[in-house]
Amino acid sequence: MPLNSLIICPGHLSLTFCFEEDTMRQDKPSRTAYKVALNVVTLGAKPGMDRFLPPGTVRATEKLLVASGAAEARTVRWFRSKRMVAVYEAFDWMLPGQFEAFAHRKAFCERQVRDGIGAGATQILVLGAGYDTMGWRLAPEFSGVNFFEIDHPATADLKAKGIYAMGQRDNLCLIAEDLGKRKLADVLKINESWDQSARTVIVAEGLMIYLPPEAVRDLFRQCAVIAGVGSRIAFTYIPTGADGRPDAGRWTGLMLWLQKLVGEPWTWSIRPEELCLFLEESGWTNVPALVGTTRKHGVEFFAVGTK
Ligand SMILES: C[S@@+](CC[C@H](N)C(=O)[O-])C[C@H]1O[C@@H](n2cnc3c(N)ncnc32)[C@H](O)[C@@H]1O
Repeated sequence: MPLNSLIICPGHLSLTFCFEEDTMRQDKPSRTAYKVALNVVTLGAKPGMDRFLPPGTVRATEKLLVASGAAEARTVRWFRSKRMVAVYEAFDWMLPGQFEAFAHRKAFCERQVRDGIGAGATQILVLGAGYDTMGWRLAPEFSGVNFFEIDHPATADLKAKGIYAMGQRDNLCLIAEDLGKRKLADVLKINESWDQSARTVIVAEGLMIYLPPEAVRDLFRQCAVIAGVGSRIAFTYIPTGADGRPDAGRWTGLMLWLQKLVGEPWTWSIRPEELCLFLEESGWTNVPALVGTTRKHGVEFFAVGTK
């Protein structure tokens, strides 16, 4: 495999070698989703990470990458090595803690889903799901819950191929849709299994930073429309810094420049103190008590809104 470019993974610094420039072309499977998945695979080789990563996550991610054709088996083996742990750690100087942040992010999202189901949710919706395996792993355990995922067609179709090979789940529905082109409410309206009045957990992991501010606001509003009372939305975000830019720490300027360079600019961030009002205006109530941590993980904070 020719290794000809260094890609900085949005939301974290991820060392991934790719064939071409990352242009966010929507006819191609998401590079960022691929990078998150590989980061998860490498976390599987770091001692102690199994304390945070939900059980089965690494193995399922490896299987999915290979079964979908997103990655070759040898690439996955390479990424699950002590060597790659050292490489990721060497690059952690730029965004301290970002390598491990993905373990905490996965744990946060899964905890929200499990807690939500415990509180009566019967629907789970993962927006911009990429190669996340939570739905596939949890669907058999919660057979009375309907799991939905949405991603760009190029990514969703590839993932569907992998899920088919790994074993489909009757209660897992992969929806291939560009949410930039079609409204979430319209997408779900035509899905017979979707119940707009059901208590739902919506997960948006590492998604909002890539959407324009108006699109983020609109997405939150639509999420409030398509989910029943008692629903929750769990998401991650980068805080806005004093200079009004997404705050990635000491190397913010470099990060923002690199993000632009690779065609995946960070377009949305918010000041934590503004989150309450923002969510309220979008039909949600900010509930920090549900988050479980006030800590920043890498460059991101975690948040939960309820309806
Ligand atoms: C950084 S990846 C995160 C993947 C996954 N949430 C995770 O953390 O493992 C962002 C994902 O959002 C998807 N995405 C971005 N914009 C989208 C849009 N307009 N419609 C559907 N999916 C979108 C991308 O295709 C990609 O899979």
